[in-house]
Amino acid sequence: MNEQSQDMRYLTFALGKGRLANKALELLEKIGITCEEMKDKDSRKLIFVNEDLKLRFFLAKGPDVPTYVEYGAADIGVVGSDTILEENRRVYEVLDLGFGKCRMCVCGPASAKELLQHHEMIRVATKYPKIAKEYFYNQKHQTVDIIKLNGSVELGPIVGLSDVIVDIVETGSTLKENGLEVLEEICPLSARMIVNQVSMKMEAERIKKILQALKSTKQL
Ligand code: PRP
Repeated sequence: MNEQSQDMRYLTFALGKGRLANKALELLEKIGITCEEMKDKDSRKLIFVNEDLKLRFFLAKGPDVPTYVEYGAADIGVVGSDTILEENRRVYEVLDLGFGKCRMCVCGPASAKELLQHHEMIRVATKYPKIAKEYFYNQKHQTVDIIKLNGSVELGPIVGLSDVIVDIVETGSTLKENGLEVLEEICPLSARMIVNQVSMKMEAERIKKILQALKSTKQL
């Protein structure tokens, strides 16, 4: 280890657990940022360190990633743009990572299409109440009753909790297998890199280097 790296502080990455984290690690590996410790799937460790590069990594629930980054507990985060929109934290969104592509949609049975056209008072189940509210109230000017769920949102219209849902559609197979369809598209989504606002100034050089390397690998 050279003198310079001894003085360096750790740069900390918060990665959204699951599919995005695996893809993010693959991408980081392409630019020489590796974390061997993290590959041990049986490990119960929460923080993983690359001593040579002075980097730390941790996995967190997606919606918590912007929180860690806003408060500076992580310098850099990787998370879906759905979560960024929903959490609305004070962070810099610096890069579209080009994976995790999907769409935020209003979905339901075909019969619910009419309810959307006539601006009726309907029930909307979603994990994303802020995104749903912004869409229905500010874009469509339709007053709706938003019901927050924490997963398996497609159940909403099936069991009669709601008329429609606002949810992520990737392949569309969850909808298809449950007799639902996309009724309206709200916005495209993908994985993004976010940076703490102070870190962006204090660690500008290191962070910009990482961003440049990612951009050149992926032609982002
Ligand atoms: C997400 C989303 C949909 C599904 C869409 O759920 O909420 O249910 O994936 O993917 P598809 O279009 O490829 O079928 P997730 O797997 O994150 O679980 P959850 O329902 O518990 O939120």
